[in-house]
Amino acid sequence: MAILETKGLYSGYGKLEVLFDINFEVREGEITVVVGPNGAGKTTLLNSIMGIATIHKGQVLFEGQDVTKVPAYKKARMGIAYLPQLGNVASGLSVEENLKIAGYLLPREEVPERIEEILDMFPRLREFRKRKAGTLSGGERRMLAIGMALMRRPKVLMLDEMTTDLAPILVKQVLNKVVELRDEYHQTIVMVEQHAKRALEVGDRGYLLVSGTMRYEGNAKELLEHPQFAKLYLGIIK
Ligand SMILES: Nc1ncnc2c1ncn2[C@@H]1O[C@H](COP(=O)(O)OP(=O)(O)OP(=O)(O)O)[C@@H](O)[C@H]1O
Ligand SMILES: [Mg+2]
Repeated sequence: MAILETKGLYSGYGKLEVLFDINFEVREGEITVVVGPNGAGKTTLLNSIMGIATIHKGQVLFEGQDVTKVPAYKKARMGIAYLPQLGNVASGLSVEENLKIAGYLLPREEVPERIEEILDMFPRLREFRKRKAGTLSGGERRMLAIGMALMRRPKVLMLDEMTTDLAPILVKQVLNKVVELRDEYHQTIVMVEQHAKRALEVGDRGYLLVSGTMRYEGNAKELLEHPQFAKLYLGIIK
């Protein structure tokens, strides 16, 4: 069953139209990957779901409920976590302090326990719990950002370009972590990725967005194998 979906969605920014008739579906416990060229509207899709972009027509549904007009902060409370592109951590604060801040809406007594759970999920961060986030490597910092987004146990975690600008080995580490979150914690994840090939390899469902329209929807591995799309839009040459 779809936990999150858009139906006939047209959206953009003010009068600007970016997305056209988007039917997007996120299934529980799966990794849904959205790929496509720069400027295709991938970030706008996440912004529209969250309620940051302007919706011109169509619907956003969460757990079967129409949330098209629900503001972003309420969607966050309902269980949608959004880690924006270039989303960052407070570099002057320690790993632990960053996690604490991310848990600010939780009942106070739950925070320390939740921090421990996150540090169990990310053992590297446990080693660095007292270190200032600014001294972490690019990959570690992204792990911290994901950990922060997970503090409130979101039902859906939306990640925008989590691996961009990372060295190949770190790309692999971040994606492995995403897979682990799905497999061990049954976390539902939406991932917008520039590293299309690697992301589709670990994904369940794949979407290809080109110039604001959805060109492919289906099995992630099949998109990877698709003779036309793979070559035209994803730079995958066989
Ligand atoms: N806040 C904004 N206000 C106005 N236009 C915007 C805004 N954000 C994005 N756009 C425009 O919307 C279009 C789609 O942008 P979007 O950021 O969704 O693309 P993207 O697929 O995420 O690209 P990239 O791979 O570069 O991140 C672009 O033409 C962009 O210039
Ligand atoms: Mg983007």
